[in-house]
Amino acid sequence: MKDEIILAIESSCDETAIAILKNGKELLVNSVNTQIEDHKRFGGVYPELASRLHLQNITKVLAYALSLKDFDYKTITHVAVTGGPGLPGALQIGAMAAKTLATYLNVPLISVHHLAGHIYANEYVTEFKYPLLALIASGGNSEIVYLPSPMKFEIIGETEDDAIGEAFDKVARELGLPYPGGVNLDKISKEEGIKTFPLPKPKVSGYNLSYSGLKSHLIRMIQKEKRDEEGKIPLEVVKSYARSTEEHFVNQMLDKLHQAAVDYHVRQVVVGGGVSANSYLRSHVNDVFKNDDIEVMLPPLWCTTDNAAMIAKAAHHMIELGHLAPLSMTTMPNRNLEDE
Ligand code: KG4
Repeated sequence: MKDEIILAIESSCDETAIAILKNGKELLVNSVNTQIEDHKRFGGVYPELASRLHLQNITKVLAYALSLKDFDYKTITHVAVTGGPGLPGALQIGAMAAKTLATYLNVPLISVHHLAGHIYANEYVTEFKYPLLALIASGGNSEIVYLPSPMKFEIIGETEDDAIGEAFDKVARELGLPYPGGVNLDKISKEEGIKTFPLPKPKVSGYNLSYSGLKSHLIRMIQKEKRDEEGKIPLEVVKSYARSTEEHFVNQMLDKLHQAAVDYHVRQVVVGGGVSANSYLRSHVNDVFKNDDIEVMLPPLWCTTDNAAMIAKAAHHMIELGHLAPLSMTTMPNRNLEDE
């Protein structure tokens, strides 16, 4: 049988990435060019700059991916691309490159949902056992998703306001930590013995989540803190905020995830998205499920931030299900996971 060779492209936000996946399992290339440094001075992703940088970088990343020793690009059997959700201009750069390649190579195109990619990133660790529950925790999303079978998604819980990563970033900014705030909150709160303080628990119905109220409460508290002559809050106090924020934000998510997993009788729980790199989340998720017969999976750290390896994994399942896209496909900045 002919090998299935997927070349996947991801450009939905601030990473330009290309991966090549052989037969759904063997990752031949995983190349990521991140724009984080370029967006730092804006304190967040500046969409117009993101598009320009994707345009500038995509050919470099592609040339690098195709320079793999002993690899003949003519063996590529499918081209996959993130079709949404994401920044409109950024998505279009990846889609245009994917369409050009698919046309030139005369191979099918697959348009992948970005969050399906974050979920299927976990398959680099283990095969999925359905039904399963996925927790997506990122800068733009906080969702609990039920998967009865491959590539079928039912959102059973979601944030009613801010996403967890977005709320992390805003609290971190108020504490004077650089972008991306969530990463830096995590970095300074790892040591043992950091004092934490109580915070109100938001009342949110069902499996839904809420971060806006907690975020505003924390920001108001931080604004009242004593500062030194340079306007800085003492490091010990910053660490205490960082740790308390992490614990409250993550515990809210894990409590809902646990309840949903028990109610839906799932066999596995998987976590995805940028916030799945969080140390507190990674060390506590197993404790939450320690008395249940439910397997908990975390993506490898290299697969938590945006990348194309996860897009290739999801594309592999879409090929099995015959979900191909026409060459006339358009990107969808607000693409709905439940429409897959
Ligand atoms: O999935 P992702 O790379 O892309 C977007 O959704 O934009 O997630 C980025 C988010 C940012 O809010 C970032 O601060 C957060 O994930 N993040 C973290 C950590 N690593 C990334 N938050 C907490 N702890 C981390 N280690």
